[in-house]
Amino acid sequence: MRFQILASSILLAPLAGARDTCSEGPKSGLTIKTTSGTYTGLVNSSAPDVNQWLGIPYGRPPVGARRFMPPEKAPDYGTADAKAYKPICLQSSGSKTSVFWQLMPEFQNTDPQSEDCLYLNIWGPRRPVQKKVPVIIWVCGGGFKEGGGHAPYQVPDQWIQRTQTHIVVTFNYRLSVFGFPGSPAANKNAGLMDIRLVTEWLKDNIAEFGGDPNRMILYGQSAGSNAVLTYAYAYPEKPIVRGFIASSGGTSTTNPTNSSLFHELAQTAGCANLTATAELACMQNVDRQVLQQKVDEASTDPNRGLFRPIADNITVFANLTDRLEKGLVAKLPLIAGFTYNEAAAFLPFDPDATTAPNGTADPGTGGLACGAKREILTRSAYGLTTYGYLYSGNFSNITPRYWLGGMHSSDIPLVFGTHSQFRGNSTELEWQTSYAMEAFWVSFAANPSAAPRDHYGQTWPKYTEASRQIVVFGNATGPSASYIAPVAIADKYSGPC
Ligand SMILES: *[C@@H]1O[C@H](CO)[C@@H](O)[C@H](O)[C@H]1NC(C)=O
Ligand SMILES: *[C@@H]1O[C@H](CO)[C@@H](O)[C@H](O)[C@H]1NC(C)=O
Ligand SMILES: *[C@@H]1O[C@H](CO)[C@@H](O)[C@H](O)[C@H]1NC(C)=O
Ligand SMILES: *[C@@H]1O[C@H](CO)[C@@H](O)[C@H](O)[C@H]1NC(C)=O
Ligand SMILES: *[C@@H]1O[C@H](CO)[C@@H](O)[C@H](O)[C@H]1NC(C)=O
Ligand SMILES: *[C@@H]1O[C@H](CO)[C@@H](O)[C@H](O)[C@H]1NC(C)=O
Ligand SMILES: *[C@@H]1O[C@H](CO)[C@@H](O)[C@H](O)[C@H]1NC(C)=O
Ligand SMILES: *[C@@H]1O[C@H](CO)[C@@H](O)[C@H](O)[C@H]1NC(C)=O
Ligand SMILES: *[C@@H]1O[C@H](CO)[C@@H](O)[C@H](O)[C@H]1NC(C)=O
Repeated sequence: MRFQILASSILLAPLAGARDTCSEGPKSGLTIKTTSGTYTGLVNSSAPDVNQWLGIPYGRPPVGARRFMPPEKAPDYGTADAKAYKPICLQSSGSKTSVFWQLMPEFQNTDPQSEDCLYLNIWGPRRPVQKKVPVIIWVCGGGFKEGGGHAPYQVPDQWIQRTQTHIVVTFNYRLSVFGFPGSPAANKNAGLMDIRLVTEWLKDNIAEFGGDPNRMILYGQSAGSNAVLTYAYAYPEKPIVRGFIASSGGTSTTNPTNSSLFHELAQTAGCANLTATAELACMQNVDRQVLQQKVDEASTDPNRGLFRPIADNITVFANLTDRLEKGLVAKLPLIAGFTYNEAAAFLPFDPDATTAPNGTADPGTGGLACGAKREILTRSAYGLTTYGYLYSGNFSNITPRYWLGGMHSSDIPLVFGTHSQFRGNSTELEWQTSYAMEAFWVSFAANPSAAPRDHYGQTWPKYTEASRQIVVFGNATGPSASYIAPVAIADKYSGPC
């Protein structure tokens, strides 16, 4: 089977008239009572049919004795505005040499940073197509050392403005040593537990915002993809969400980090030679800027490990095959995919160069495509419903150097509908690729147990070893915005895994 939407049909307006069917929305306008307080959001004239609540706390500030520790549910903080983004979590302000800073800073968060950073943002339709709409919970990437809930390319207001079909939630989670300290006396993966606290918070509260707590999915990219896949293994019984989307990132099977990194940091931060408990207490008192600076200094040494998730067999598991064998994974549908030129984003970048830098841009490089690929193959072998995709778009307003086409992260602006906002308007193929991805994503969120469907009714077959079919998005030299093709991902996209 080969499904093609020909270029002529690409010009049709998507989802015409989808708006006027229902106008329930959140129960009490822009002021919503939640378990962590009563918050008043805003409507921005740039998206007049979208309610926004920015900067709602989901956890207590993880400072002082709560630093490095599992997050605690936020208490009722009373009444406040939710009209401005809160600070993102502390993160490296170190070398900004990558294309993500030099050329396309819209992939980055530039908000002020704070250790007090456990906040989420909600965007919802004012004229929803249903009484309760599905919810897409975005887990941002950034290598577990950067990122937050407010990168310009990851603001979903125009997507929701256009479709009125769903809610999108973004949030900050703790990073680097603050989220993944590795202290023997602390929980290993507080930053991943932050993500779990977000899903718990949304289960309790999203209905008040017009969302359906029984139709929520987690969607993550890069490190966020790793976190989403890891979540599936950590919460087999009560996943809260109903499906997963994992873009360009797999679970790490190797784990370079151990307690010695924390000890090394303690040595330089004035907490040397203490028992584990005393060391932890001492490190909780170190000035947060000093701590971040020490991490930055240490990270300039390429031989040093990074503060990342650690297999503790509680939130991160050393042997995923064993989890699968024992059925200890949330048996929920997954969309997993990768871009065709992931590694281009990580080649040394010279802003003045007119030709491609040296280096290979193999699709499997860096464990990004390959991690997603491995997850598709492994899960389908265990009979878990999995849908695969390859993003092969190459659009010059997202990647304004020819060798960057299809690089890591370049699919995100298509899903969030932000692709045309920063470097000129998009091509017709780009708009249509975006509409197709958005429609598949929302259809999956609305009912993960049915085959995802795009705005033309094309359905996405699940990946099987026999058919090996995945969706290909945005191939500028191909015939359509999205089409189903048998792609031998096991052979064709075999980079170092
Ligand atoms: C409203 O949207 C515009 C354009 O996206 C943005 O620049 C501005 O900061 C937003 N205002 C608020 C209050 O969020
Ligand atoms: C822990 O990591 C350090 C590098 O930071 C390494 O030298 C050491 O061998 C590792 N220990 C274990 C038990 O893996
Ligand atoms: C920590 O112990 C090492 C080796 O036992 C010693 O060389 C060092 O001086 C001690 N550091 C402090 C700050 O006590
Ligand atoms: C996790 O389980 C694996 C076996 O699956 C074991 O080898 C490893 O030591 C365990 N790690 C911890 C931190 O318990
Ligand atoms: C992981 O678990 C599987 C199934 O239980 C087992 O066959 C395999 O030996 C384990 N791998 C490691 C590295 O422990
Ligand atoms: C690329 O590789 C070639 C051949 O190895 C070398 O001559 C050239 O200097 C390299 N260019 C850069 C920018 O590294
Ligand atoms: C992207 O498209 C341009 C033409 O617009 C082409 O020159 C370039 O090779 C493509 N890039 C990749 C990485 O395929
Ligand atoms: C952007 O491009 C699309 C597709 O080519 C076109 O329909 C639309 O009118 C353009 N919008 C603007 C503001 O130029
Ligand atoms: C795009 O489609 C063309 C024609 O089907 C194919 O030759 C090419 O390999 C595809 N490119 C990517 C990056 O998938």
